[in-house]
Amino acid sequence: MGTVVLDGVGKSFDGVWACSQVDLTIEKGEFFTFLGPSGCGKTTLLRLIAGFITPQSGAVYIDGHDVTHLPPEKRNVGMVFQNYSLFPYLNVRQNIEYGLTIQKKSARERKDIASLYMDMVGLADFGERKISELSGGEQQRVALARSLAVEPEVLLLDEPLSNLDARLRDKMRAEIKALQKRLGITTIFVTHDQTEALTLSDRIAVFDKGRVVQVGTPHQVYDTPRNVLVAKFVGDTNIFSATLDNGTARLENGMSHGAESGPESRLELRVPSAENGTCHLSIRPQNIRLSHTPVNEPNSFKVRLVERQLNGLWIDTIVQVGEITLRVAELNTVSLAAGPEPQPGDTLWATLPETAIRLLYE
Ligand SMILES: Nc1ncnc2c1ncn2[C@@H]1O[C@H](COP(=O)(O)OP(=O)(O)O)[C@@H](O)[C@H]1O
Ligand SMILES: [Mg+2]
Repeated sequence: MGTVVLDGVGKSFDGVWACSQVDLTIEKGEFFTFLGPSGCGKTTLLRLIAGFITPQSGAVYIDGHDVTHLPPEKRNVGMVFQNYSLFPYLNVRQNIEYGLTIQKKSARERKDIASLYMDMVGLADFGERKISELSGGEQQRVALARSLAVEPEVLLLDEPLSNLDARLRDKMRAEIKALQKRLGITTIFVTHDQTEALTLSDRIAVFDKGRVVQVGTPHQVYDTPRNVLVAKFVGDTNIFSATLDNGTARLENGMSHGAESGPESRLELRVPSAENGTCHLSIRPQNIRLSHTPVNEPNSFKVRLVERQLNGLWIDTIVQVGEITLRVAELNTVSLAAGPEPQPGDTLWATLPETAIRLLYE
């Protein structure tokens, strides 16, 4: 139980499509994330699945039943809204019992179930508190307990961590993951944050302008992005326009073939494709290796250090070869820190391993 199928779903507001032609199957027990920039239709899709709005085209199925025109209370779906939408005039316990009242549970059952879920989210002693007396993190827990208390088949979470400060966000992220695993509940999680998507999800759907661009596991989406948008949105990367010629890519100066790119701005790399034509080439900063001495390997060349910045775990380095700029990220390990610290203007050697290069055709 808990399979969600979106079949050609589209929804427009005032003639503008918020999402369109969305085909997705979310499996029972899966932690599935909708990832995309603000305004790409994520909340609209959640509301379509929950039943607060109906699509103009396509259908929504839960456990094989067409629920497209069923009201929210008939769908067995729990939703945590981005702003939590708690009832300010009810206390914590009453908020959590709300859906159980609609389900016509007895007072005894309501009390037992609410206690169970308050306990589960760490709010056992907060039953009598008013919502206005809670911190953001506590309100988030009430919203989570309220949606879980009705024991839905599917849990929908709309950017539940975005209102929390960084430390609390990390803590709640871990708690949500643990709770989801323990309950085995099918969960659709909406976020614009790549770290949340990568750390929490079994699978991710990346959205752009209301359409699904790529679906895959965090590794698939990160390691083999389908296009430039996914490569840039999920993790940092270096992207160049490239011309392919029998396994060699000639890089241009950045994304565009600008008039300012002279002959020295070109760089040739061995790449994992024998196709000819133009494409984009992506390589992640952590896959580029730097050395103080010449490296006798393919795709190694002399670069000039522009900038180097310690970032704690990472050292971020900008290097240049001709007009081409590369971002490099090195792990800040003791052994590296013990070496001579390169300075701006120094000559280094950079290696771009062929296996780390991705060619993107759109
Ligand atoms: N009720 C609505 N009326 C009109 N336009 C809406 C409504 N809800 C969403 N939209 C529009 O649909 C698009 C997608 O919105 P939304 O689903 O909220 O995106 P996201 O959650 O990814 O930020 C936006 O352009 C938004 O302005
Ligand atoms: Mg939204």
